[in-house]
Amino acid sequence: MKEFKDKVIWITGASSGIGEAIALELAKREARLILSARRAEELNRVAALTKLPPLDLMVLPFDLSDTTNASGLAAQVINKFGRIDILINNGGYSQRSEAMETPMDIHRQLMEVNYFSAVNLTQAVYPYMKRQKGGHIVVISSIAGKFGFYLRSSYSAAKHALHGFFESFRLETENQGIKTLMVCPGKIKTNVSVNAVTAKGEKHNAMDPSHQNAMSAEECAQHIIRAIGRNEEELLVGGKELLIVKIRRYFPKLFSKIVRKQSPY
Ligand SMILES: NC(=O)c1ccc[n+]([C@@H]2O[C@H](COP(=O)([O-])OP(=O)(O)OC[C@H]3O[C@@H](n4cnc5c(N)ncnc54)[C@H](OP(=O)(O)O)[C@@H]3O)[C@@H](O)[C@H]2O)c1
Repeated sequence: MKEFKDKVIWITGASSGIGEAIALELAKREARLILSARRAEELNRVAALTKLPPLDLMVLPFDLSDTTNASGLAAQVINKFGRIDILINNGGYSQRSEAMETPMDIHRQLMEVNYFSAVNLTQAVYPYMKRQKGGHIVVISSIAGKFGFYLRSSYSAAKHALHGFFESFRLETENQGIKTLMVCPGKIKTNVSVNAVTAKGEKHNAMDPSHQNAMSAEECAQHIIRAIGRNEEELLVGGKELLIVKIRRYFPKLFSKIVRKQSPY
């Protein structure tokens, strides 16, 4: 319980869902938190729920679609806290549109928010972690980072890209004391499907039936925090939908049959 006490932890996508749940769990463990997302009012709501004193809390709103000032954002964190122990690259959004109906600007935006922002923020915190001789990068991927799926082309591509980048990053930085955890949630009950983008660039605005009885964000957050504490390299978290990841690895032909019969929702 005490291993996160006074640790400085920056969470993106902290205004709802999994990020909010991670923030509230870490607050119970007396971590010092930086909460980021676009909606400042929602971040302030989460900040109030943490009940942390202002000294241990920072609300830092920004848009992950433009992280060109990532080093400036990291400098703001360092100015207040003096160090960054853990960066949780969690913010992102999903897709509900067929690959060939989706305009290029929507494909690019999915990559920008779900992939490049994590690279950019990690590059920005890395010099401080190197100086501290340690740190932890947590990346929220998805089971869509393990196989492509209906209506998820660029979302899945971005999540796959995270694995390629951060598995390389892990090899290159672990001798500096930097640990990397890849998290692949299956179905977690959040607004991820409601907030998913359509081919028209609008919100899908409906919760997928498969999410309605899924694992709660709170339970998911507890698994993620346990995996950070145990220095795990990869965590699959969710319910029975995770089985398909194992089926793909060990029975690829069976996987090909099953995946075609799955509902996109
Ligand atoms: N729920 C699942 O079943 C599931 C499964 C696999 C992976 N995941 C991943 O888990 C992560 C969290 O998603 P969630 O399920 O908690 O969904 P969510 O409730 O929709 O939360 C998404 C978070 O990302 C932030 N965000 C989205 N676009 C942003 C942008 N352009 N700039 C800054 N922040 C942005 C949102 O905040 P603002 O709107 O305030 O900006 C929000 O805090 C995502 O990476 C998602 O891909 C979720």
